Amino acid sequence: MKEKKNKEIKILLGVTGGIAAYKSAELIRLFKKEGFKVKVMMTKNATRFITPLTLAVLSEDKVFTSLFSQDEEYEEIRHISLAHWADLIIIAPATANLIAKIAHGLADDLLTSTVLAFTGNIIFAPAMNSAMINNSIYKDNVKYLLEKGYHFIDTEKGNLACGDYGDGRMADPVNILNSVKERIKKNFSLKGKKVLITASATREPIDEIRFISNRSTGKMGFSLAEAARDRGAMVTLITGSTCLHDPWGIKTIHVNTAREMREQVMTYFNDTDVFISSAAVSDFKPAHQFAGKIKKKEQHSLNLELERNIDILKETGEKKTKQILIGFAAEVKNLKENALDKLKSKNLDYIVANDVSREDSGFASDTNKVLVIDRKGRETDLPLMSKYELAGYILDNVQHNFENHGNGIVL
Ligand code: CTP
Repeated sequence: MKEKKNKEIKILLGVTGGIAAYKSAELIRLFKKEGFKVKVMMTKNATRFITPLTLAVLSEDKVFTSLFSQDEEYEEIRHISLAHWADLIIIAPATANLIAKIAHGLADDLLTSTVLAFTGNIIFAPAMNSAMINNSIYKDNVKYLLEKGYHFIDTEKGNLACGDYGDGRMADPVNILNSVKERIKKNFSLKGKKVLITASATREPIDEIRFISNRSTGKMGFSLAEAARDRGAMVTLITGSTCLHDPWGIKTIHVNTAREMREQVMTYFNDTDVFISSAAVSDFKPAHQFAGKIKKKEQHSLNLELERNIDILKETGEKKTKQILIGFAAEVKNLKENALDKLKSKNLDYIVANDVSREDSGFASDTNKVLVIDRKGRETDLPLMSKYELAGYILDNVQHNFENHGNGIVL
């Protein structure tokens, strides 16, 4: 079972020119034993320490050493196709030179170009002399890359190739494997799952330039979409009006009205594993839309007749088969009672109850303070946290469901 799961994970191993390059052979063997798919790229200097043939035999694939193919024939743009192929890049050993190049955005060979073109997780397993590892320039480069979200596996103390004793040995391949597995567990927990998310406010037109809407900005829904993407899910985000940019790696669909949002949700719903409805959908809409612009001199007062809008989440609750359904409850009083009512009436697996009257929570804020209630009525009162953190918490629960039950039913 574990092996089958790992087979879906594609690791691109970058090997740079250091004596520890010989350990990359063992690393490939360990990755393959775990069931990962492995491709290898090497710098020119790395090929002086270990032959591409050795790594090709172990990885059971061609080893890439150059941006260009040997013959003159056209083939795909290698650094881009490798970057698209990989789920995760690990560079082991990573020399001080390679780390400096990446920190400065250099892309002068296949390995550095691929790293620059890659949008997923990148892990460095450095190896160098202890004087180099303590050099403040190297330390500054590492600090900068850590701030940028790159990951490092600590070097180990021991006898170094130069005869010195000290820090700088590349981590043992088994330790590298364990670090990679840990990162995968974190980042690929929703790999292969389809997650559908609605965000932001709908707009219901009064005339051609005016509308009824609300204060939702989409921050929660976008954070959920990004967190799901960062866990390896295929994410479709259906958003109402927002100032936020479309997040990378996420199919983002823009809609105006609740009706348009409903249509898009229903298009994707059957083929979805998880539906998270964070949009603030207008419950009412004008019964008639005026043509053009309503002119004030033509009327002293204006009565707008409003009618109930469709409830998208309720409809998905009725249609639900395998999907995990998560709703949000925007409340200003009786938080728990109202949230429980929505959980039941909309047939949800989780409800995230928001007190939208708080300054630090709900619409437009970067943080949220919520009470999460599951289908069985189990409550978790969460502390104030960023919307991305909250998204992570919600998705951890989703993952837990898949691990324990394989589908969306909370038993
Ligand atoms: N929702 C929906 N379609 C609607 C209204 C709400 O899909 N027409 C979804 C929201 O995205 C949210 C949940 O239902 O996940 C609850 O929304 P909320 O606005 O809190 O509650 P309502 O059901 O609209 O009820 P009320 O406004 O009376 O509190």
